Amino acid sequence: MTEPKRYLVTAALPYANGPKHIGHLAGAYIPSDVYVRYLRSQGRDVVFVCGSDEHGTAIPNQALKENTTPKAIIDKYDAQIRDCFFKLGMSFDIYHRTSEPIHHQTSQEIFKTLYNKGLLTEEISEQYFDVTANTFLADRYIMGTCPKCGNPNAYGDQCEKCGSTLSPRELINPRSTLSGNPPVLKSTKHWYLPLQNYETWLSDWILKSHKDDWKVNVYGQCKSWIDAGLQPRAMTRDLDWGIKVPLPDAEGKVLYVWFDAPIGYISATRALFQEITTNKTKFATPQKYFAGATADDWKKYWQDKDTKLLHFVGKDNIVFHCIIFPIMLHATGEYILPDNVPANEFMNLEGDKMSTSRGWSIEMHEYLADFPDKPDVLRYALLTNLPETKDSEFTWKDFQAKNNNELVAIFGNFVNRALVLTQKYFDNKVPALGVLSETDSKVLAELKEFPSRIGQSLESYRFREATAGLMDLARLGNKYLAETEPWKLAKTDMARVGTILNVALQIAANLSIVAEPFLPFSATKLREMLQQSAGKWAQAGNSELLAVGHSLGAPTLLFEKIEDEVINAQIKKLNDNKKAMELANQPAEPAKPEISFDDFQKMDIRVGTILQAERVEKSKKLLKLQVDTGIDTRTVMSGIAEHFSPEEVTGKQVTILVNLAPRKIMGVESQGMILMAADKDGKLRLLQPNEGVSPGATVS
Ligand code: 2FM
Ligand code: ZN
Repeated sequence: MTEPKRYLVTAALPYANGPKHIGHLAGAYIPSDVYVRYLRSQGRDVVFVCGSDEHGTAIPNQALKENTTPKAIIDKYDAQIRDCFFKLGMSFDIYHRTSEPIHHQTSQEIFKTLYNKGLLTEEISEQYFDVTANTFLADRYIMGTCPKCGNPNAYGDQCEKCGSTLSPRELINPRSTLSGNPPVLKSTKHWYLPLQNYETWLSDWILKSHKDDWKVNVYGQCKSWIDAGLQPRAMTRDLDWGIKVPLPDAEGKVLYVWFDAPIGYISATRALFQEITTNKTKFATPQKYFAGATADDWKKYWQDKDTKLLHFVGKDNIVFHCIIFPIMLHATGEYILPDNVPANEFMNLEGDKMSTSRGWSIEMHEYLADFPDKPDVLRYALLTNLPETKDSEFTWKDFQAKNNNELVAIFGNFVNRALVLTQKYFDNKVPALGVLSETDSKVLAELKEFPSRIGQSLESYRFREATAGLMDLARLGNKYLAETEPWKLAKTDMARVGTILNVALQIAANLSIVAEPFLPFSATKLREMLQQSAGKWAQAGNSELLAVGHSLGAPTLLFEKIEDEVINAQIKKLNDNKKAMELANQPAEPAKPEISFDDFQKMDIRVGTILQAERVEKSKKLLKLQVDTGIDTRTVMSGIAEHFSPEEVTGKQVTILVNLAPRKIMGVESQGMILMAADKDGKLRLLQPNEGVSPGATVS
């Protein structure tokens, strides 16, 4: 295969509607970063883009939940995600935002191109509308009873109980998740991309041309979509958050988020070249091959057939990157198509599906808060366990084992032994290489093979295999030292010790080059210890990377052992989180049957002050209270003893139903009832006025 002139690598734009978890990292981000770092080490011309996906209904919906504006939401989560990516070593050339004007402009241009070519169809259809919220409802915001299994909480696009794909119109008793009210049908006009017109073209492109080079999981998903027959897909939505549809008769309509998001890759590339040419100093990862670039150079990456375009995504994004976006690109007639979409499946967590909303996930920012100096450990634990061909599973025990048994015991141990022994016996200078033993020659011959083998794995998107190759190289060094035992020879044959350490140090120097794509922070640390300048992939395999007499830096530990307590605390945190979210996600109790205003008026509710409180003998639940109701002082038996001590409530204002018929409880007449808020966790809270009022104040 001929080498492409340049590469354009994209990583799925994460929705800026909340924190992202390690499953996202395993799906798209870490593999793409390893790949790009490898290409750069190979000296290839590569641009790597990503950014925040800031449109779609998910953003205003999150704003509702957090009681703020959509703009505040995207600013908050864009900053958080950007910061985490940076700390995890993601080496994007640009991390852009789809809220940037250049992205709005690019998306509108592409929409107009398709429209002007007559490739979009206009259709009027009836869609669910929430009258109270005054908005059309995206499928996710309509719930109702699943027609297949009777689950009363099915979504408009899917029933999570039985897994059926649904459309909102199929739901029985639909209700809006915004207001809780039943939505009404209202007609609305939208612009559709008739995907079915591209079926033959798409079949030829994917099913014929990419049968052998696309991953089985990716190819399989594409094939089942194509086999099922493609349908027209609306490229616009009724929403007031997003990119305005650039047509005169499109008031209140925006581009569909899956229309604009992948165009985000193009706008990011445009923005990158604008930045390179106007503001060189701000540019995050300056690279030699950008020297002399012009603002128009983004076109080379998107329009020149010699560019290899790769989309790294998770499995839920396959259809958009393999079918819809390619059809859009093809239809414009101006853009190249992806050469590959090496999508991963999902990573589960401790035996269950990862999900932020269910509290069963490890969020990037939380990992980084707990393990700020261990970005590489996470990279490694994910890389050795990527869901490349099927779903995989992250467990904290495995994370610990990968760190302790591989990074510490093999990689770190080898490097440390080589450096410490050199410091001890050779004044921290690379010793001379004497006559090579058979073991030495064998090891050096093996060393030569590693870079190309690991490179081949990477070029075929087999990242687990590549990572295993990296550890095997460290293992080779570790085994070599264990076999040659230089520490035993120091008394008798210093020249031999020198030879062994020279070989070991050359392996360590190779490791620093080969490890860079996988473990960039540790590779840098290793290079500093070896006082070695940044090496290119082509130099790896060489056994003369460090000259005889070269002075080394001080040896420090590359990795540290992670103790059981740390891991157990993480497992506990995960379980606690899940419980907390289960409570938070529990639906509120259903409403009671309607009552008349007169019914309500019959209740006499007052603010009172608790004057005295005491426990009741033989009862765990009851407190006997003396309450000043403003009308009188009376005794109330209240079932709050498990929630409050007598001292806690004495002197507190409460709301009390004063005209409830008296009842004898534990032999004492209770005159009225203290009102409480019962939360989902079962805990009771007092209902108090927001500022002090006189006892007897009426509540209505
Ligand atoms: O699934 C997601 O998180 C989407 N925001 C991915 C978009 S990828 C691309 F099209 F921008
Ligand atoms: Zn169902």
